[in-house]
Amino acid sequence: MSVLTGAGISTDSGIPDYRGPQGVWTRNPAAEANATIDRYLADPEVRRASWQARLVHPAWDARPNAAHGALVDLERAGLLRALITQNIDELHQRAGSAPEKVIELHGTLHRAECLSCDLITPMSEVLARVAAGEADPPCPRCGGLQKSNTISFGQSLKPEVLGAALDAARSCDLFVAVGTSLTVHPAAGLCGEALDAGARLVIVNAAPTPYDPYADQVIHEPIGEALPALVKELIDAAR
Ligand SMILES: NC(=O)c1ccc[n+]([C@@H]2O[C@H](COP(=O)([O-])OP(=O)(O)OC[C@H]3O[C@@H](n4cnc5c(N)ncnc54)[C@H](O)[C@@H]3O)[C@@H](O)[C@H]2O)c1
Ligand SMILES: [Zn+2]
Repeated sequence: MSVLTGAGISTDSGIPDYRGPQGVWTRNPAAEANATIDRYLADPEVRRASWQARLVHPAWDARPNAAHGALVDLERAGLLRALITQNIDELHQRAGSAPEKVIELHGTLHRAECLSCDLITPMSEVLARVAAGEADPPCPRCGGLQKSNTISFGQSLKPEVLGAALDAARSCDLFVAVGTSLTVHPAAGLCGEALDAGARLVIVNAAPTPYDPYADQVIHEPIGEALPALVKELIDAAR
């Protein structure tokens, strides 16, 4: 089976989602409009605010929760083909999921990238410069603008990453979507790809999603309990 995760799997780890009741954008709708690559490139104030937000991001202190752990169990039972995630927090790898199983559709917050020369550096190095007073630290190699190594709205996904996710969705018998509102494309469309290829679809998410009508099972319950229970069922059924 293949699994797709979203921000909802990490809320129990203290990282707010975007669209849940305590979501970053539910509480501050203006933030969504500023989350585009065009605004980032055009406005030094948006970049300054972005670096300040990265500096205090809850991901730095977050620890994986029971739901991340359940997906490690699924992998160790030999049942996981791929773990596709929209999250940028690396909590799957931190929980013990094999890095080669994790497909990070939207990149990672743990690295910075130069938008001119594509240099990738550890985020911790750039944040140390921000903490020391640089409002918008330029690339150490070419002086270009830097950003987290994540996909902003208006940026395309990396073709090889999207390709791997499409392969994983189209070649599984069961596709499980966890903690995602299934409103961000192309990630959400992976559910349709899996269904078209004949897979069953299971959705674990508190709020309804556009794919609920097509799912074989929809679990509108807290992920921290619902996902470990589902994984246990799947492992027992495979024995
Ligand atoms: N942890 C992270 O890395 C993080 C956090 C916020 C946003 N993002 C990014 O923002 C985008 C948001 O899209 P998305 O679909 O992943 O998130 P989203 O905010 O659109 O949806 C999250 C969903 O999870 C559900 N949810 C939250 N906590 C839950 C819980 N404990 N139990 C059950 N359901 C719960 C909510 O009802 C909501 O429908 C992604 O592309 C991602 O890259 C990432
Ligand atoms: Zn550069």
